[in-house]
Amino acid sequence: ADGTVEIPVVVNVLYNTSAQNVSDARIAEQITVLNQDFGGTNSDASKIPAEFQSVKSGDVKVRFRLANTVRKSTTKTSWSTNDAMKKASTGGIDATSPSSYFNIWLVGSMGGVLGYATFPESAGQWNDGVVIASPYFGKTGATSPFNLGRTATHEVGHYLNLRHIWGDANCGNDQVADTPTQTGPNYNKPSYPQNNTCSGVSRSIMFMNYMDYVDDAAMFMFSAGQRTRMQAVVTSSGPRAGLRV
Ligand code: ARG
Ligand code: ZN
Ligand code: CA
Repeated sequence: ADGTVEIPVVVNVLYNTSAQNVSDARIAEQITVLNQDFGGTNSDASKIPAEFQSVKSGDVKVRFRLANTVRKSTTKTSWSTNDAMKKASTGGIDATSPSSYFNIWLVGSMGGVLGYATFPESAGQWNDGVVIASPYFGKTGATSPFNLGRTATHEVGHYLNLRHIWGDANCGNDQVADTPTQTGPNYNKPSYPQNNTCSGVSRSIMFMNYMDYVDDAAMFMFSAGQRTRMQAVVTSSGPRAGLRV
């Protein structure tokens, strides 16, 4: 009634070692992180600077519910971003009805890549969803400084049509008006405020946004403009309307 959309999630686990066979408890922990981050109830939301209080997303009104977990042992130890993990014929796991379910694939390693996602233009296709290297999924047993479940938050942002906050260019355009333009990605745990040379940025950039590249502990907000963009994707007329089952 309040417009909240609950997205059913299928987690596809490809494991070579037992450590990569991420537990049900850790999967539940990751779903909880997503629900807190997209609900604006994450405990570190209290760190959002005063200057961004008026543009924080609050509740994005998107939630996640684990529908199924599919597990498969594999001899493959390293994967690339070529979607091989999304097809049984290439050693992966076929997506479960991708127009109705949000599929996540967990793989042991992708070199230095933490995760990658498809945008809504891929809605319903065989490769639609998010891939995450298992060391960066969930919290308990995950690898610092990416052990607070925020790789999934970031990748789901892409799945729901968000671009990187720097617009993937020097002072690029992320198509969101209330995120200040920034020169490029930020890493580690920047101190606040951070100014930059893009024109029209009055004080700090929003490096604590989930769509930057900072450590998990340093990112804790979406903006209101990002919320609007994500809601447009899951609304009954949006490209991911089929997820509302
Ligand atoms: N797309 C980024 C990558 O593949 C993920 C960044 C996630 N950031 C984070 N703090 N967990 O490297
Ligand atoms: Zn990204
Ligand atoms: Ca912007």
